[in-house]
Amino acid sequence: MTASSPKKSLPRRKPSSSPDVAQATDGGAPTTEVPDYSRLSGDYHWMYDDVGLKLGTRTPGVRAALRSLPPNAAVLDVACGIGLDARALTNRGLRVSAVDASAEMVALTRSWVSGCDPVPPVLQSTWVGLHEHFAPQTFDAVLCTGNSISHARSSSEMSRWLRSFRSMLKPGGMLVLDVQDWDVIRNLGDRLVVDPHPLERNDSMCRRSWTWTFSPVQKDQCRLDIGFEVTRDHKTTVSTHSVGLRAFDKPELRSSTVSAGFRNPFLDRVPGDEMYTMVAYNPDEPHSPDDPHRIG
Ligand SMILES: C[S@@+](CC[C@H](N)C(=O)[O-])C[C@H]1O[C@@H](n2cnc3c(N)ncnc32)[C@H](O)[C@@H]1O
Repeated sequence: MTASSPKKSLPRRKPSSSPDVAQATDGGAPTTEVPDYSRLSGDYHWMYDDVGLKLGTRTPGVRAALRSLPPNAAVLDVACGIGLDARALTNRGLRVSAVDASAEMVALTRSWVSGCDPVPPVLQSTWVGLHEHFAPQTFDAVLCTGNSISHARSSSEMSRWLRSFRSMLKPGGMLVLDVQDWDVIRNLGDRLVVDPHPLERNDSMCRRSWTWTFSPVQKDQCRLDIGFEVTRDHKTTVSTHSVGLRAFDKPELRSSTVSAGFRNPFLDRVPGDEMYTMVAYNPDEPHSPDDPHRIG
């Protein structure tokens, strides 16, 4: 969800309606709300240029962290989206499992990884429901890319998700996520960014735009409207997708990560990039039954 100049400032305004959310159930009772990616999923490939489609994540810190994994490491991609990282990592020899709450994203990932050998498992699950699909301490790494953690509507929801991610990690296992640098984005204020370089793919051309709007009431609530103007055979279609995000700061992410039981959270940002990476480790000792951070 990054974009570049030219930038145009917008007047502050109240979002016209709330971004879509859907109730999800985890073993019966509704426990969390998940963003509705059903419409955006069809256009989501336009978020990536052709290199991104092949290689997946573009965040340098995420790529570096993943390179540190041994061959054959078990990786859980908890926000697989359309499956670009799952495919790229499987092709590198890693043992990937992919998860997403969105049925449409899961279907796209399954199709995207269908040519891989082996074909990685792709499951529909929310983050609090991971324990229903996987045994604790199964993975060497948990991957949560594309600013997905900013979907947490509160600090406590973010902590809950982080604890669930940690429960999936082997002792010493690594969490890797990337986050929009909210300090930078908030300072830029409400704005419209139009991509100066349209993408061309399959005889279509797409001009993308991103509109960031911060709530004047709740300073940490941001609405991102992603626009795709697609031209094919001289016909142009415009679609806009709204995503609700929470603009938390780095100390909050660090302290939530530590209180979820991780050690050594390391935050890293390449100058000029709007995204930063966080890498954190599950402690080496196995979870004990009276571990206060234990899930389930
Ligand atoms: C911004 S997309 C990122 C997708 C991909 N990682 C990428 O970088 O392109 C966020 C993804 O997280 C998923 N997601 C958001 N909240 C979730 C939750 N609570 N449980 C499971 N998946 C969730 C969405 O369905 C969506 O596919």
